[in-house]
Amino acid sequence: MSTADTRWWRDAAIYQIYPRSFADHNGDGVGDLAGVRARLGYLRDLGVDAIWFSPWFPSPMADAGYDVADYRDIDPAFGTLDEATALIGEAHALGIRIIIDVVPNHTSVAHAWFQRALVDPSYRDRFWFRDGRGDLPPNDWGSIFGGPAWTQVADGQWYLHMFDAGQPDFNWDNPIVREEFEDILRFWFDRGVDGIRIDSAAMVAKDPALPDFDPASPPDPHPWNDRDEIHDIYRAWRRVADSYPGGRALIGEVWLADPHRFAQYLRPDELHAAFNFDFLGCPWDGKALRRCVDETLDAHAAVGAPATWVLSNHDVTRHVTRYGRAETGFEHHLRQTRHLAPTDLALGTRRARAAALLTLALPGSVYVYQGEELGLPEVEDLPAAARQDPIFARTGGADPGRDGCRVPLPWSSPPAAPGWLPQPAGWAAYTVERQSSDPSSMLSLYRRALAVRRAEPGLGDGPMAWLDAPADVLAFTREGGFACVVNLSQTPAPLPPGTVLLASGPLDGDLLPPDTSVWLRL
Ligand code: GLC
Repeated sequence: MSTADTRWWRDAAIYQIYPRSFADHNGDGVGDLAGVRARLGYLRDLGVDAIWFSPWFPSPMADAGYDVADYRDIDPAFGTLDEATALIGEAHALGIRIIIDVVPNHTSVAHAWFQRALVDPSYRDRFWFRDGRGDLPPNDWGSIFGGPAWTQVADGQWYLHMFDAGQPDFNWDNPIVREEFEDILRFWFDRGVDGIRIDSAAMVAKDPALPDFDPASPPDPHPWNDRDEIHDIYRAWRRVADSYPGGRALIGEVWLADPHRFAQYLRPDELHAAFNFDFLGCPWDGKALRRCVDETLDAHAAVGAPATWVLSNHDVTRHVTRYGRAETGFEHHLRQTRHLAPTDLALGTRRARAAALLTLALPGSVYVYQGEELGLPEVEDLPAAARQDPIFARTGGADPGRDGCRVPLPWSSPPAAPGWLPQPAGWAAYTVERQSSDPSSMLSLYRRALAVRRAEPGLGDGPMAWLDAPADVLAFTREGGFACVVNLSQTPAPLPPGTVLLASGPLDGDLLPPDTSVWLRL
């Protein structure tokens, strides 16, 4: 592939593969690398520029691979390191770059260092081992997945885990940890990986005093989140990335409320990009979306970084479902109360189509979570026995967790083999097989939109300007006479004069119906 475009990450369309659920080649119910290799042509035809793989490393799967036992190998359920290397080469031959997920905040209890730390106190400083307070844990921190953030080991000490007990946190004050991760980056960059998605990127540094949590303190920084020391870690990673010809991209999973603190991660000597969760969580509402776009672009402009646009991922309720509800925004702590809320899937799908054209027209790069291009809804009625997300177990079933967005993709119906999570019977209507030949399908819309996005010189990175429009109608131009109009109001909206390039749904003469978007050449 051409390495000439060293700034590809500024406007790439990046497809997220969740390996367990993308494509199962050997029929064991779990997706694998052979399945991905067999579907690279699908991704080329879809028109994506890069693939981001959720973790593919050996793992006990306490958190679906985000508990990494060995950062330099592939889980046997997915395949082998040789297959991964072959896959990277095959993707490059098709012009598709590869981004892998690296998890620096924590590891797995099965990792060799943690196993050693259990028996050898000299290894404990690579983690956060502490004595308890009497019978109580060393401090009052709670795990993000529910329950305490501490687990006691046989000799009485406790270790910190901000997620599942199977995911002990690393101590990044220890230089051995820093060196190890720089070496892991080189390991994968040497194998041709083009970029790294950094899991829980803002959580890596901790206040070494491990103080109790003060509820009166501002939301960020926290004793475990967004601490200023973190930036040195990513400056060092950037030096590693920049030492490769053409550079390699670093993309952070940074959940922060404050757009200015968020942008600090994107200064020119730190990360290249970070996920825009503000946009992902934003309700389907004209004013809120416009404010979100403006704040995003302002915060990124201040540091010269490209914005990213994300509607869904493996951690959140699929947006077809969200947009079909009375409450269309997303917040993790509300998943539980919104679970099984009344949902109009036809409305959600219409809005998801409109949102796709909005997202793909905004300045910067864009992420497509597998199945989004098929218009898949959240699967909310999984039986309790099938649920595997540790959030479900750690909250005693109160929070359904994230399995509902992780159901294996429907390639054809019935599936060749039953998947690790059952597919609803209704998914026969969503298969790739069926949608491929239907010009009105979500898949056809994504294929056309990604093709136009690639062909239009004004799309991707670059400026945009708002056009005057009625209330709750978003209209903006990009260079080259391109315009995008999104109608979030309840009434049809007049279209500016121009040639229609693509519409998310039928137009009503020269009126744009509600919950519909259009791309125009003015
Ligand atoms: C990130 C991942 C999520 C995982 C967590 C702990 O938020 O996206 O899936 O559970 O980190 O690694």
